[in-house]
Amino acid sequence: MEVSGIVALVSGGASGLGEATVRRLAGHGAKVIIMDLNEARGQSLAEELGPHAHFAKADVSSEEDVQNAIHLAFNTFGELHVAINCAGIGSAIKTIGKEGPHPLSAFKKVIEVNLVGTFNLIRLAAHAMERNEPNAEGERGVIINTASVAALMGKSARRHTLPLKAVWWA
Ligand SMILES: NC(=O)c1ccc[n+]([C@@H]2O[C@H](COP(=O)([O-])OP(=O)(O)OC[C@H]3O[C@@H](n4cnc5c(N)ncnc54)[C@H](O)[C@@H]3O)[C@@H](O)[C@H]2O)c1
Repeated sequence: MEVSGIVALVSGGASGLGEATVRRLAGHGAKVIIMDLNEARGQSLAEELGPHAHFAKADVSSEEDVQNAIHLAFNTFGELHVAINCAGIGSAIKTIGKEGPHPLSAFKKVIEVNLVGTFNLIRLAAHAMERNEPNAEGERGVIINTASVAALMGKSARRHTLPLKAVWWA
């Protein structure tokens, strides 16, 4: 898809991977909705980038918030072609530690933002893009999700493998 002139919505767009994505898209002529919980950073980035960038305060795991951000894309720019999931949080807590078992609430929070939130934007953006006229390549829209190597290898895995290696080499 040609980036110049497209309308993109980036979750977590106020910081890190999302901010870099917003800057790259804007630099190539896209119109961007910066969707994030962090109002101060999101607003400031939108102001810096000018009229082709708008901020939408939204929790990616909230149906109402994400729907409102998609409406902002249509109300401001008239369409939506691309949705990019960058909103995410990290948590590195041992399954059992000095304080007891891993708090279930912390685990649930990561699942809610990183998994449920990602799917929430996928489904609502896909529904909105369904109405787009296909472009010359037959595309109605593009959805991009980001993940972490932490999905394959837990952040504290090294601590557990070291003693095993020590036994192996002994
Ligand atoms: N930085 C990396 O190298 C890297 C690599 C692979 C994966 N990741 C993962 O990608 C995600 C983003 O990483 P980052 O480095 O850009 O982090 P970051 O903290 O710099 O940016 C994340 C952004 O998401 C926003 N956010 C958090 N919860 C939200 C919610 N519920 N709704 C809307 N916005 C929310 C934050 O306000 C923040 O602006 C994380 O889950 C991280 O684990 C990061």
